[in-house]
Amino acid sequence: MFPCLKLKYLEERLQCISEFEKPKILLEQYITPPHLSSHILYTVQSQYGDIDSKIVADLGSGCGALTIGTGVLGASFIIGFEIDREAIDICLENIAEQELTNIDIVNCDVINGIPSRFYKFFDTVLMNPPFGTKHNAGIDIKFLETAFKLSKNVVYSLHKTSTRKHILKYAESLGHKAEVLAELKYDLSSTYKFHKKKSVDIQVDFYRFILLK
Ligand SMILES: C[S@@+](CC[C@H](N)C(=O)[O-])C[C@H]1O[C@@H](n2cnc3c(N)ncnc32)[C@H](O)[C@@H]1O
Repeated sequence: MFPCLKLKYLEERLQCISEFEKPKILLEQYITPPHLSSHILYTVQSQYGDIDSKIVADLGSGCGALTIGTGVLGASFIIGFEIDREAIDICLENIAEQELTNIDIVNCDVINGIPSRFYKFFDTVLMNPPFGTKHNAGIDIKFLETAFKLSKNVVYSLHKTSTRKHILKYAESLGHKAEVLAELKYDLSSTYKFHKKKSVDIQVDFYRFILLK
């Protein structure tokens, strides 16, 4: 076990984060709910010590749920990469409200817009990427590909449970060690108008990838 702030305190901090004002379907914009993000980040730090004093990247940082939680847990520095300017504006307000000074946000496309000077720059990369639904199939793998380029040691990510075989095979093909740490129920509440049901639960795997040196 590694030193870590209390889970309840982390969740309370993440409950204060403002969400996407007009979520964009094409970018799969939904926040990682505080209950989920706090448990994920608490595990990353308390079980593996991969946040405190580390240089961390968050790919598709959105309004900052994972970025801010990482900052609260004592990362030495975090860079969030996000394509959408409106999400970044909300994220910057959230960071200011939480009085965190160890975070930068870079406005770019994670798929092909991250400068090569960041390759192998980060100790830890974490992300809740777009899952790649109808219009953008394969984007989850492209996010993973970028994460593997940026991290020196370890990547944490969420992927739909239905894609587990595919994700494990992909990581294995590159020589990385993949482990599913938990199966989570992701409550995609009625974020988008086309969701007729009030709450839509999807099964999601929480992964830890240890990278081939
Ligand atoms: C599921 S949301 C997660 C947001 C945030 N990380 C969180 O955990 O609450 C996915 C995020 O990826 C961003 N995104 C989608 N495609 C992207 C791309 N090609 N490059 C960078 N960001 C992208 C979206 O705008 C959105 O903020």
